[in-house]
Amino acid sequence: MDKLLIKGGATLNGGIRISGAKNAALPILAATLLTEQPVHLSNLPHLHDITTMVELLGVMGVEAVINEDMSVEINAGTIKDQKAPYSLVKTMRASILVLGPLVAHYGRASVSLPGGCAIGSRPVDLHIMGLEAMGAEVQIVDGYIEARVDGRLKGAEIEFGVVTVTGTENILMAAALAEGQTIIRNAAKEPEVVDLANCLKAMGAKIEGEGTDTIVVEGVESLHGCEYSVMPDRIETGTYLVAGAVTGGKVTLKNTDASIMKSVLDKLSESGAKITTGDNWIELDMEGKRPKAVSITTAPYPDFPTDMQAQFTVLNSIADGTGVVEETVFENRFMHIQELVRMGAIAQVNGNEAVITGQEKLKAAPVMATDLRASASLVLAALVAEGETLVDRIYHIDRGYECIEEKLQNLGATIKRVAA
Ligand code: EPU
Repeated sequence: MDKLLIKGGATLNGGIRISGAKNAALPILAATLLTEQPVHLSNLPHLHDITTMVELLGVMGVEAVINEDMSVEINAGTIKDQKAPYSLVKTMRASILVLGPLVAHYGRASVSLPGGCAIGSRPVDLHIMGLEAMGAEVQIVDGYIEARVDGRLKGAEIEFGVVTVTGTENILMAAALAEGQTIIRNAAKEPEVVDLANCLKAMGAKIEGEGTDTIVVEGVESLHGCEYSVMPDRIETGTYLVAGAVTGGKVTLKNTDASIMKSVLDKLSESGAKITTGDNWIELDMEGKRPKAVSITTAPYPDFPTDMQAQFTVLNSIADGTGVVEETVFENRFMHIQELVRMGAIAQVNGNEAVITGQEKLKAAPVMATDLRASASLVLAALVAEGETLVDRIYHIDRGYECIEEKLQNLGATIKRVAA
Protein backbone atom coordinates (compact mmCIF):
# COMPACT_ATOMS: atom_id res chain seq x y z
CA MET A 1 0.00 0.00 0.00
CA ASP A 2 1.43 3.40 -0.97
CA LYS A 3 2.43 5.96 1.63
CA LEU A 4 3.53 9.57 1.41
CA LEU A 5 6.88 10.57 2.86
CA ILE A 6 7.08 14.27 3.59
CA LYS A 7 10.02 16.28 4.92
CA GLY A 8 8.69 19.35 6.66
CA GLY A 9 10.09 22.85 6.72
CA ALA A 10 9.88 24.14 3.15
CA THR A 11 8.17 27.45 2.49
CA LEU A 12 5.78 26.85 -0.40
CA ASN A 13 6.18 29.16 -3.33
CA GLY A 14 4.86 29.05 -6.89
CA GLY A 15 1.80 28.32 -9.00
CA ILE A 16 -0.33 25.25 -9.74
CA ARG A 17 -3.48 24.46 -11.68
CA ILE A 18 -6.60 23.39 -9.81
CA SER A 19 -8.46 20.32 -11.08
CA GLY A 20 -12.14 19.86 -11.82
CA ALA A 21 -14.40 19.40 -8.78
CA LYS A 22 -14.88 15.80 -7.66
CA ASN A 23 -18.18 16.58 -5.97
CA ALA A 24 -19.57 18.22 -9.11
CA ALA A 25 -18.19 15.59 -11.49
CA LEU A 26 -19.81 12.70 -9.59
CA PRO A 27 -23.46 13.87 -9.86
CA ILE A 28 -22.85 15.05 -13.43
CA LEU A 29 -21.59 11.58 -14.37
CA ALA A 30 -24.74 10.12 -12.78
CA ALA A 31 -26.86 12.60 -14.75
CA THR A 32 -25.70 11.00 -18.01
CA LEU A 33 -28.15 8.18 -17.11
CA LEU A 34 -31.00 10.60 -17.85
CA THR A 35 -30.51 10.50 -21.62
CA GLU A 36 -29.86 7.91 -24.34
CA GLN A 37 -27.66 10.36 -26.19
CA PRO A 38 -23.90 10.78 -25.67
CA VAL A 39 -22.78 13.34 -23.09
CA HIS A 40 -19.27 14.76 -23.47
CA LEU A 41 -17.70 15.85 -20.18
CA SER A 42 -14.42 17.73 -19.77
CA ASN A 43 -12.32 19.01 -16.84
CA LEU A 44 -12.99 15.78 -14.96
CA PRO A 45 -10.37 15.25 -12.26
CA HIS A 46 -8.19 12.15 -12.53
CA LEU A 47 -9.27 10.52 -9.27
CA HIS A 48 -10.24 7.12 -7.91
CA ASP A 49 -13.80 8.25 -7.15
CA ILE A 50 -14.29 9.33 -10.75
CA THR A 51 -12.97 6.00 -12.03
CA THR A 52 -15.33 4.22 -9.61
CA MET A 53 -18.33 6.15 -10.92
CA VAL A 54 -17.35 5.38 -14.53
CA GLU A 55 -16.91 1.72 -13.52
CA LEU A 56 -20.35 1.75 -11.88
CA LEU A 57 -21.91 3.06 -15.10
CA GLY A 58 -19.91 0.38 -16.94
CA VAL A 59 -21.31 -2.54 -14.91
CA MET A 60 -24.78 -1.32 -15.86
CA GLY A 61 -23.78 -1.59 -19.51
CA VAL A 62 -23.21 2.13 -20.11
CA GLU A 63 -20.41 2.85 -22.58
CA ALA A 64 -17.76 5.34 -21.57
CA VAL A 65 -14.85 6.42 -23.72
CA ILE A 66 -12.11 8.12 -21.73
CA ASN A 67 -9.81 10.38 -23.74
CA GLU A 68 -6.22 11.19 -22.84
CA ASP A 69 -7.15 14.65 -21.55
CA MET A 70 -9.58 12.90 -19.14
CA SER A 71 -12.56 14.14 -21.09
CA VAL A 72 -15.16 11.40 -21.23
CA GLU A 73 -17.97 10.58 -23.61
CA ILE A 74 -20.74 8.63 -21.93
CA ASN A 75 -23.49 6.90 -23.80
CA ALA A 76 -26.18 5.55 -21.49
CA GLY A 77 -28.21 4.37 -24.47
CA THR A 78 -26.45 1.00 -24.11
CA ILE A 79 -27.63 0.39 -20.50
CA LYS A 80 -28.64 -3.22 -19.72
CA ASP A 81 -29.09 -3.34 -15.98
CA GLN A 82 -30.23 -0.72 -13.44
CA LYS A 83 -28.26 -2.16 -10.54
CA ALA A 84 -25.51 -0.54 -8.43
CA PRO A 85 -23.82 -3.49 -6.67
CA TYR A 86 -22.54 -3.48 -3.09
CA SER A 87 -19.01 -4.22 -4.30
CA LEU A 88 -18.79 -0.72 -5.80
CA VAL A 89 -21.14 1.23 -3.54
CA LYS A 90 -19.18 0.18 -0.44
CA THR A 91 -16.07 1.83 -1.91
CA MET A 92 -17.87 5.10 -2.69
CA ARG A 93 -20.98 6.45 -0.98
CA ALA A 94 -21.62 8.89 -3.82
CA SER A 95 -22.79 5.87 -5.86
CA ILE A 96 -26.20 6.66 -4.34
CA LEU A 97 -26.35 9.45 -6.96
CA VAL A 98 -27.46 6.94 -9.63
CA LEU A 99 -30.69 6.22 -7.71
CA GLY A 100 -32.68 9.30 -8.81
CA PRO A 101 -31.68 9.19 -12.51
CA LEU A 102 -32.34 5.42 -12.79
CA VAL A 103 -35.85 5.59 -11.34
CA ALA A 104 -36.71 8.72 -13.31
CA HIS A 105 -35.52 7.35 -16.65
CA TYR A 106 -36.08 3.60 -16.44
CA GLY A 107 -38.75 3.31 -13.75
CA ARG A 108 -36.59 1.03 -11.63
CA ALA A 109 -33.35 0.97 -9.65
CA SER A 110 -31.58 -1.40 -7.35
CA VAL A 111 -28.87 0.42 -5.42
CA SER A 112 -26.96 -1.05 -2.51
CA LEU A 113 -27.32 0.84 0.77
CA PRO A 114 -23.97 2.56 1.38
CA GLY A 115 -23.44 1.29 4.95
CA GLY A 116 -21.07 2.77 7.56
CA CYS A 117 -18.76 5.72 7.14
CA ALA A 118 -15.76 7.12 8.99
CA ILE A 119 -17.18 10.62 9.42
CA GLY A 120 -20.70 9.96 10.67
CA SER A 121 -23.78 7.79 10.24
CA ARG A 122 -24.73 9.45 6.92
CA PRO A 123 -28.19 7.97 6.26
CA VAL A 124 -29.94 8.29 2.88
CA ASP A 125 -33.49 8.51 4.27
CA LEU A 126 -34.05 11.94 2.70
CA HIS A 127 -33.14 10.70 -0.79
CA ILE A 128 -35.73 7.93 -0.36
CA MET A 129 -38.35 10.26 1.14
CA GLY A 130 -38.03 12.58 -1.88
CA LEU A 131 -38.42 9.79 -4.42
CA GLU A 132 -41.42 8.36 -2.54
CA ALA A 133 -43.04 11.81 -2.58
CA MET A 134 -42.67 11.67 -6.37
CA GLY A 135 -44.53 8.38 -6.55
CA ALA A 136 -41.73 5.81 -6.40
CA GLU A 137 -42.29 2.63 -4.40
CA VAL A 138 -39.19 1.99 -2.35
CA GLN A 139 -38.30 -1.10 -0.33
CA ILE A 140 -35.11 -2.22 1.33
CA VAL A 141 -34.45 -5.82 0.29
CA ASP A 142 -31.28 -7.70 1.27
CA GLY A 143 -29.33 -4.47 1.80
CA TYR A 144 -30.50 -2.94 -1.48
CA ILE A 145 -32.76 0.04 -2.10
CA GLU A 146 -35.30 -1.34 -4.59
CA ALA A 147 -37.20 1.52 -6.22
CA ARG A 148 -39.97 1.24 -8.81
CA VAL A 149 -42.44 3.50 -10.54
CA ASP A 150 -45.07 2.75 -13.19
CA GLY A 151 -44.69 5.35 -15.91
CA ARG A 152 -43.05 8.66 -14.99
CA LEU A 153 -42.33 10.06 -11.54
CA LYS A 154 -44.76 12.84 -10.59
CA GLY A 155 -43.65 16.34 -9.63
CA ALA A 156 -44.02 17.06 -5.89
CA GLU A 157 -43.21 19.57 -3.18
CA ILE A 158 -40.31 18.20 -1.17
CA GLU A 159 -38.92 19.82 1.95
CA PHE A 160 -35.67 18.50 3.38
CA GLY A 161 -35.46 18.48 7.18
CA VAL A 162 -31.68 18.95 6.97
CA VAL A 163 -29.70 20.34 4.09
CA THR A 164 -28.33 17.45 2.05
CA VAL A 165 -26.06 17.95 -0.94
CA THR A 166 -26.37 14.57 -2.70
CA GLY A 167 -30.01 14.32 -1.55
CA THR A 168 -30.78 17.60 -3.34
CA GLU A 169 -28.84 16.39 -6.39
CA ASN A 170 -30.70 13.06 -6.53
CA ILE A 171 -34.11 14.74 -6.40
CA LEU A 172 -33.05 17.46 -8.85
CA MET A 173 -32.04 14.79 -11.40
CA ALA A 174 -35.23 12.79 -10.80
CA ALA A 175 -37.40 15.91 -11.11
CA ALA A 176 -35.83 16.82 -14.45
CA LEU A 177 -37.69 13.89 -16.08
CA ALA A 178 -40.78 13.83 -13.81
CA GLU A 179 -44.26 14.76 -14.96
CA GLY A 180 -45.11 18.29 -13.80
CA GLN A 181 -43.48 20.66 -11.35
CA THR A 182 -41.21 19.76 -8.45
CA ILE A 183 -40.34 22.26 -5.74
CA ILE A 184 -37.36 21.39 -3.53
CA ARG A 185 -37.35 23.38 -0.29
CA ASN A 186 -34.39 23.75 2.07
CA ALA A 187 -32.30 22.67 -0.91
CA ALA A 188 -28.53 22.61 -0.72
CA LYS A 189 -27.05 25.83 -2.17
CA GLU A 190 -23.60 24.36 -2.80
CA PRO A 191 -21.89 25.46 -6.04
CA GLU A 192 -21.69 21.78 -7.03
CA VAL A 193 -25.52 21.64 -7.04
CA VAL A 194 -25.51 24.70 -9.31
CA ASP A 195 -22.97 23.03 -11.61
CA LEU A 196 -25.19 19.94 -11.86
CA ALA A 197 -28.22 22.15 -12.61
CA ASN A 198 -26.24 23.92 -15.35
CA CYS A 199 -25.32 20.59 -16.92
CA LEU A 200 -28.94 19.39 -16.70
CA LYS A 201 -30.06 22.63 -18.38
CA ALA A 202 -27.54 22.00 -21.16
CA MET A 203 -29.31 18.62 -21.54
CA GLY A 204 -32.67 20.37 -21.90
CA ALA A 205 -33.93 20.43 -18.29
CA LYS A 206 -36.06 23.32 -17.00
CA ILE A 207 -34.69 24.43 -13.64
CA GLU A 208 -34.89 27.68 -11.67
CA GLY A 209 -33.60 28.74 -8.28
CA GLU A 210 -30.44 26.62 -8.14
CA GLY A 211 -28.03 28.21 -5.67
CA THR A 212 -30.96 29.31 -3.47
CA ASP A 213 -32.83 27.21 -0.92
CA THR A 214 -35.82 26.72 -3.24
CA ILE A 215 -35.32 24.96 -6.56
CA VAL A 216 -38.20 24.69 -9.01
CA VAL A 217 -38.08 22.09 -11.76
CA GLU A 218 -40.56 21.73 -14.63
CA GLY A 219 -40.16 18.12 -15.70
CA VAL A 220 -39.61 17.37 -19.39
CA GLU A 221 -40.31 14.12 -21.28
CA SER A 222 -36.76 13.57 -22.40
CA LEU A 223 -33.29 15.04 -22.14
CA HIS A 224 -30.61 15.14 -24.81
CA GLY A 225 -26.84 14.86 -24.99
CA CYS A 226 -24.56 17.85 -24.42
CA GLU A 227 -21.00 18.99 -23.88
CA TYR A 228 -20.14 20.22 -20.42
CA SER A 229 -17.02 21.31 -18.57
CA VAL A 230 -16.96 20.62 -14.82
CA MET A 231 -16.37 23.55 -12.42
CA PRO A 232 -13.06 23.90 -10.48
CA ASP A 233 -12.63 22.15 -7.14
CA ARG A 234 -13.12 24.65 -4.32
CA ILE A 235 -11.95 22.20 -1.64
CA GLU A 236 -8.73 21.38 -3.49
CA THR A 237 -8.26 25.14 -3.90
CA GLY A 238 -8.78 25.72 -0.18
CA THR A 239 -6.42 22.90 0.76
CA TYR A 240 -3.52 24.39 -1.27
CA LEU A 241 -4.26 27.86 0.09
CA VAL A 242 -3.91 26.48 3.62
CA ALA A 243 -0.68 24.75 2.53
CA GLY A 244 0.64 28.18 1.53
CA ALA A 245 -0.59 29.75 4.77
CA VAL A 246 0.85 27.21 7.20
CA THR A 247 4.28 27.30 5.54
CA GLY A 248 4.40 31.12 5.48
CA GLY A 249 4.57 30.96 1.68
CA LYS A 250 3.14 32.49 -1.46
CA VAL A 251 1.01 30.36 -3.78
CA THR A 252 -0.92 31.18 -6.93
CA LEU A 253 -3.74 28.83 -7.89
CA LYS A 254 -4.95 28.92 -11.47
CA ASN A 255 -8.13 27.62 -13.10
CA THR A 256 -10.15 28.20 -9.95
CA ASP A 257 -13.01 30.44 -8.85
CA ALA A 258 -12.70 32.90 -5.96
CA SER A 259 -16.40 33.81 -6.10
CA ILE A 260 -17.41 30.50 -4.48
CA MET A 261 -14.70 30.59 -1.78
CA LYS A 262 -15.76 33.57 0.35
CA SER A 263 -16.05 31.88 3.75
CA VAL A 264 -12.64 30.21 3.35
CA LEU A 265 -10.89 33.29 1.93
CA ASP A 266 -12.32 35.44 4.76
CA LYS A 267 -10.86 33.08 7.37
CA LEU A 268 -7.47 33.02 5.61
CA SER A 269 -7.44 36.83 5.57
CA GLU A 270 -8.37 36.84 9.26
CA SER A 271 -5.39 34.55 9.90
CA GLY A 272 -3.11 37.17 8.35
CA ALA A 273 -2.84 36.06 4.71
CA LYS A 274 -2.82 38.60 1.91
CA ILE A 275 -5.32 37.34 -0.67
CA THR A 276 -5.51 38.64 -4.23
CA THR A 277 -8.00 37.27 -6.74
CA GLY A 278 -8.63 37.52 -10.46
CA ASP A 279 -11.05 36.07 -12.96
CA ASN A 280 -9.88 32.48 -12.57
CA TRP A 281 -7.01 32.66 -10.08
CA ILE A 282 -6.30 33.22 -6.39
CA GLU A 283 -3.00 34.24 -4.83
CA LEU A 284 -2.20 33.85 -1.16
CA ASP A 285 0.84 35.58 0.30
CA MET A 286 1.69 34.91 3.94
CA GLU A 287 4.80 37.12 3.70
CA GLY A 288 6.76 34.66 5.84
CA LYS A 289 4.48 35.19 8.84
CA ARG A 290 3.01 32.59 11.20
CA PRO A 291 -0.80 32.51 10.85
CA LYS A 292 -3.04 33.80 13.64
CA ALA A 293 -5.53 31.30 15.10
CA VAL A 294 -9.08 31.52 13.72
CA SER A 295 -12.33 30.06 14.99
CA ILE A 296 -14.63 28.32 12.54
CA THR A 297 -18.08 26.73 12.55
CA THR A 298 -18.90 24.39 9.69
CA ALA A 299 -22.34 24.60 8.07
CA PRO A 300 -23.89 24.19 4.60
CA TYR A 301 -22.88 26.66 1.85
CA PRO A 302 -22.36 29.62 1.86
CA ASP A 303 -21.02 29.07 5.37
CA PHE A 304 -17.70 27.43 6.16
CA PRO A 305 -17.42 23.98 4.47
CA THR A 306 -17.04 20.86 6.58
CA ASP A 307 -14.66 19.63 3.87
CA MET A 308 -12.19 22.39 4.93
CA GLN A 309 -12.48 21.78 8.68
CA ALA A 310 -9.55 19.38 9.05
CA GLN A 311 -7.22 21.67 7.08
CA PHE A 312 -8.06 24.66 9.32
CA THR A 313 -7.55 22.47 12.38
CA VAL A 314 -3.95 22.09 11.19
CA LEU A 315 -3.66 25.82 10.59
CA ASN A 316 -4.77 26.43 14.18
CA SER A 317 -2.37 23.81 15.51
CA ILE A 318 0.64 25.89 14.37
CA ALA A 319 -1.00 29.34 14.67
CA ASP A 320 -0.40 32.11 17.12
CA GLY A 321 -3.23 31.83 19.67
CA THR A 322 -6.17 29.53 20.32
CA GLY A 323 -8.89 28.65 17.82
CA VAL A 324 -12.20 26.91 18.35
CA VAL A 325 -13.40 24.55 15.61
CA GLU A 326 -17.07 23.59 15.69
CA GLU A 327 -18.33 20.83 13.37
CA THR A 328 -22.09 20.96 12.81
CA VAL A 329 -22.49 18.88 9.61
CA PHE A 330 -21.08 15.45 10.54
CA GLU A 331 -21.00 14.00 14.04
CA ASN A 332 -17.67 12.19 13.87
CA ARG A 333 -15.34 14.32 11.82
CA PHE A 334 -12.48 14.83 14.29
CA MET A 335 -10.58 11.60 13.60
CA HIS A 336 -7.57 13.58 12.35
CA ILE A 337 -7.16 15.34 15.68
CA GLN A 338 -5.73 12.32 17.51
CA GLU A 339 -3.20 11.91 14.70
CA LEU A 340 -2.30 15.61 14.91
CA VAL A 341 -1.82 15.24 18.68
CA ARG A 342 0.71 12.51 17.90
CA MET A 343 2.58 15.19 15.94
CA GLY A 344 2.57 17.54 18.93
CA ALA A 345 -0.65 19.49 18.38
CA ILE A 346 -2.46 20.64 21.49
CA ALA A 347 -6.17 20.06 21.10
CA GLN A 348 -9.11 19.27 23.33
CA VAL A 349 -12.19 17.73 21.82
CA ASN A 350 -15.49 18.13 23.55
CA GLY A 351 -18.43 16.76 21.57
CA ASN A 352 -18.55 18.60 18.27
CA GLU A 353 -16.09 21.27 19.37
CA ALA A 354 -12.30 21.25 19.36
CA VAL A 355 -10.15 23.86 21.07
CA ILE A 356 -6.70 24.07 19.52
CA THR A 357 -3.81 25.96 21.01
CA GLY A 358 -1.19 26.74 18.39
CA GLN A 359 2.40 25.52 18.75
CA GLU A 360 5.46 27.02 17.08
CA LYS A 361 6.27 23.66 15.54
CA LEU A 362 4.83 20.20 14.99
CA LYS A 363 7.00 17.08 15.05
CA ALA A 364 7.11 14.31 12.47
CA ALA A 365 5.47 10.99 13.36
CA PRO A 366 4.05 8.06 11.43
CA VAL A 367 0.35 8.87 10.96
CA MET A 368 -2.66 7.21 9.42
CA ALA A 369 -5.32 8.75 7.17
CA THR A 370 -8.93 7.97 8.10
CA ASP A 371 -10.92 9.80 5.45
CA LEU A 372 -10.28 12.03 2.49
CA ARG A 373 -10.08 15.47 4.12
CA ALA A 374 -8.47 14.10 7.29
CA SER A 375 -5.68 12.69 5.16
CA ALA A 376 -5.18 16.03 3.42
CA SER A 377 -4.83 17.64 6.83
CA LEU A 378 -2.09 15.16 7.80
CA VAL A 379 -0.15 16.11 4.67
CA LEU A 380 -0.48 19.78 5.61
CA ALA A 381 0.72 19.03 9.14
CA ALA A 382 3.69 17.10 7.73
CA LEU A 383 4.67 20.13 5.63
CA VAL A 384 5.25 22.14 8.81
CA ALA A 385 6.58 19.36 11.05
CA GLU A 386 10.23 18.96 12.03
CA GLY A 387 11.54 15.79 10.43
CA GLU A 388 10.06 13.23 8.05
CA THR A 389 6.42 12.19 8.35
CA LEU A 390 5.10 9.00 6.81
CA VAL A 391 1.37 9.22 6.00
CA ASP A 392 -0.24 5.80 5.71
CA ARG A 393 -3.50 4.78 3.98
CA ILE A 394 -3.20 7.48 1.37
CA TYR A 395 -5.74 5.76 -0.87
CA HIS A 396 -8.11 8.17 0.87
CA ILE A 397 -6.13 11.12 -0.57
CA ASP A 398 -6.15 9.63 -4.06
CA ARG A 399 -9.95 9.67 -3.96
CA GLY A 400 -10.01 13.46 -3.92
CA TYR A 401 -6.65 15.07 -4.73
CA GLU A 402 -5.28 14.75 -8.24
CA CYS A 403 -1.47 14.36 -8.34
CA ILE A 404 -1.05 15.75 -4.83
CA GLU A 405 2.66 14.99 -4.60
CA GLU A 406 3.45 16.51 -8.02
CA LYS A 407 1.47 19.64 -7.20
CA LEU A 408 3.15 20.06 -3.81
CA GLN A 409 6.57 19.38 -5.37
CA ASN A 410 5.85 22.16 -7.88
CA LEU A 411 5.32 24.47 -4.93
CA GLY A 412 8.65 23.43 -3.41
CA ALA A 413 7.61 20.74 -0.90
CA THR A 414 9.77 17.69 -0.27
CA ILE A 415 7.26 14.88 -0.72
CA LYS A 416 7.38 11.49 -2.38
CA ARG A 417 5.18 8.44 -2.74
CA VAL A 418 6.70 5.28 -1.39
CA ALA A 419 5.47 1.75 -1.87
CA ALA A 420 5.51 -0.22 1.36
N1 EPU B 1 -28.35 13.43 6.05
C1 EPU B 1 -29.44 12.78 6.58
N2 EPU B 1 -30.24 12.04 5.74
C2 EPU B 1 -30.00 11.96 4.41
C3 EPU B 1 -28.88 12.64 3.87
C4 EPU B 1 -28.07 13.37 4.72
O1 EPU B 1 -29.67 12.82 7.79
O2 EPU B 1 -30.78 11.30 3.70
C5 EPU B 1 -27.46 14.19 6.95
C6 EPU B 1 -26.04 13.62 7.01
O3 EPU B 1 -25.93 12.56 7.92
C7 EPU B 1 -25.22 14.82 7.41
C8 EPU B 1 -25.97 15.98 6.73
O4 EPU B 1 -27.26 15.47 6.40
O5 EPU B 1 -25.24 15.02 8.80
C9 EPU B 1 -25.33 16.51 5.47
O6 EPU B 1 -24.97 15.44 4.63
P1 EPU B 1 -25.05 15.55 3.04
O7 EPU B 1 -26.13 14.65 2.55
O8 EPU B 1 -25.10 16.98 2.62
O9 EPU B 1 -23.66 14.93 2.61
P2 EPU B 1 -23.40 14.15 1.29
O10 EPU B 1 -24.28 14.65 0.23
O11 EPU B 1 -23.39 12.68 1.57
C10 EPU B 1 -21.62 15.76 0.25
C11 EPU B 1 -20.20 15.65 -0.18
C12 EPU B 1 -19.30 15.52 1.05
C13 EPU B 1 -19.50 16.76 1.92
C14 EPU B 1 -20.99 16.91 2.28
C15 EPU B 1 -21.29 18.18 3.05
C16 EPU B 1 -20.40 14.60 -2.35
C17 EPU B 1 -20.18 13.41 -3.19
N3 EPU B 1 -20.07 14.50 -1.05
O12 EPU B 1 -21.90 14.56 0.97
O13 EPU B 1 -17.96 15.48 0.58
O14 EPU B 1 -18.74 16.64 3.10
O15 EPU B 1 -21.79 16.92 1.08
O16 EPU B 1 -20.91 19.29 2.34
O17 EPU B 1 -20.83 15.63 -2.82
C18 EPU B 1 -15.70 14.88 0.63
O18 EPU B 1 -15.59 15.31 -0.55
O19 EPU B 1 -14.69 14.59 1.33
C19 EPU B 1 -17.00 14.72 1.22
C20 EPU B 1 -17.22 13.96 2.29
